Amino acid sequence: MKLCLMEKQKKYFISTMGCQMNVYDSEVLAGYLESMGFAATTGEEDADILILNTCAVRQKAEEKVLSRLGMWRNLKQSKPGMLMVLWGCMVQQGGIAGQIRKRYPYIDLIGGPHALGRFPELLEEARISRTPVIAVAEEERRGREFPVKRRHTLFAWVPISYGCNNYCTYCIVPYVRGPEKSRLPADIIAEVEKLAHNGYREVTLLGQNVNSYGRDLNEQMDFADLLQMVARIPGLLRIRYMTSHPRDFTEKMIAIIAQEPKICEHFHLPLQAGSNHILTLMNRGYTREVYLKLVERIRELVPRSSITTDFIVGFPGEREEDFGMTMDMLEKVRFDAAFTFIYSPRQGTKAAAMADQISDTEKRARIITLNNRQTEIGQEINAQLLGTRQELLVEGKSKTDHANYTGRTRTNKIVHFPANEVPEGSLVTVEITEAGAWTLRGKYISADTD
Ligand code: SAH
Ligand code: SF4
Ligand code: F3S
Repeated sequence: MKLCLMEKQKKYFISTMGCQMNVYDSEVLAGYLESMGFAATTGEEDADILILNTCAVRQKAEEKVLSRLGMWRNLKQSKPGMLMVLWGCMVQQGGIAGQIRKRYPYIDLIGGPHALGRFPELLEEARISRTPVIAVAEEERRGREFPVKRRHTLFAWVPISYGCNNYCTYCIVPYVRGPEKSRLPADIIAEVEKLAHNGYREVTLLGQNVNSYGRDLNEQMDFADLLQMVARIPGLLRIRYMTSHPRDFTEKMIAIIAQEPKICEHFHLPLQAGSNHILTLMNRGYTREVYLKLVERIRELVPRSSITTDFIVGFPGEREEDFGMTMDMLEKVRFDAAFTFIYSPRQGTKAAAMADQISDTEKRARIITLNNRQTEIGQEINAQLLGTRQELLVEGKSKTDHANYTGRTRTNKIVHFPANEVPEGSLVTVEITEAGAWTLRGKYISADTD
């Protein structure tokens, strides 16, 4: 669907829910649309193509989608020519696409993440047929070259693998994203080299479990090797990666992170639960002892690193004493930050069928206890930075306060600081003047040369 130059330029609007993988997929959708001649717009009503890229990881995300679709009904009535696309993980779940087509017949295209490489054809089919098109079959996406319209010109996401083989018993991701498939190292390196050449400063390597990268490839290549190759590409300032599975974090990876100056000393290691009983039920493949040992090695080899995590509270069968073990891990590890979630049963996963589901009241009480203590710990850790000088990579003006700039430390802490004119993507040194649990404030000291 190429647009004639004489026509008024058509516009698209994409909303993205969920994880960074979805953010990346939306950048690909945008890339396709721009190559077809569409331009981005900031208002849903102005759009000729409206896309919602969905997530299925928790019930709440799905509820938000349904209420949004209700609002789309009015939009379609006032602008019948608008093409409406429901994309992403939510529609990849068995049977959902059909239900959505019935309940929201005004949606033109319903597509799962596997169909990304066919987006232009599917859109064209939907436009011509004017009957809803559904694309949720499993398809190969590895090896495809996607046109990516990145949101940022300095910070980029680069997928290194698609899908997940872990089948944590609570998680829908392996069902909607399929089995893990590593991208070829040559493709990843070529993409990162191009980004570096185009002036990008930071690259984040993406995968549901980056640590198992390469296991499905013929080449003798693991994540540590890949990290090292990426870290040696000239031009970039910082390399990050997510998400790591604690079970697959090797000594070799820690050593390479310690060695390579561009790889940031931030470890996001989702623990999920502190009791071995729950970790087994979750099929996480490690114990609290193994996790603690890993943390110890990281702190030995990469001093001053930050460690963040994810927790789920209220997993089926979580007794008070199990939750107590989660609280105990907060004290033992002292995480810089934790993303905490109330367990949400996902249809088709093993945990959803387990006995002993925990009541909502109990789950809510536990998450509050967990968050309160973690906030204190985060604050205590960050308070140790008061008066220290930190290197920041500047991300731009603060979204909430335009007198301030925002940057990130190598350890992934957000710092706001007042300054006159600081280029985005540059390195600066600030002195930390205020420290909260999630963000810090600083005083501008100098611009660093890279
Ligand atoms: N592959 C990544 C991200 C998975 S989704 C990883 O393994 O960490 C991000 C987080 O959502 C998970 O770490 C987990 O804490 C949470 N999560 C996943 N499924 C969930 C569910 N059913 N209920 C509540 N939280 C969930
Ligand atoms: Fe889900 Fe576990 Fe895979 Fe992460 S590692 S995506 S939590 S199944
Ligand atoms: Fe959600 Fe899909 Fe990511 S379910 S967390 S958008 S992989």
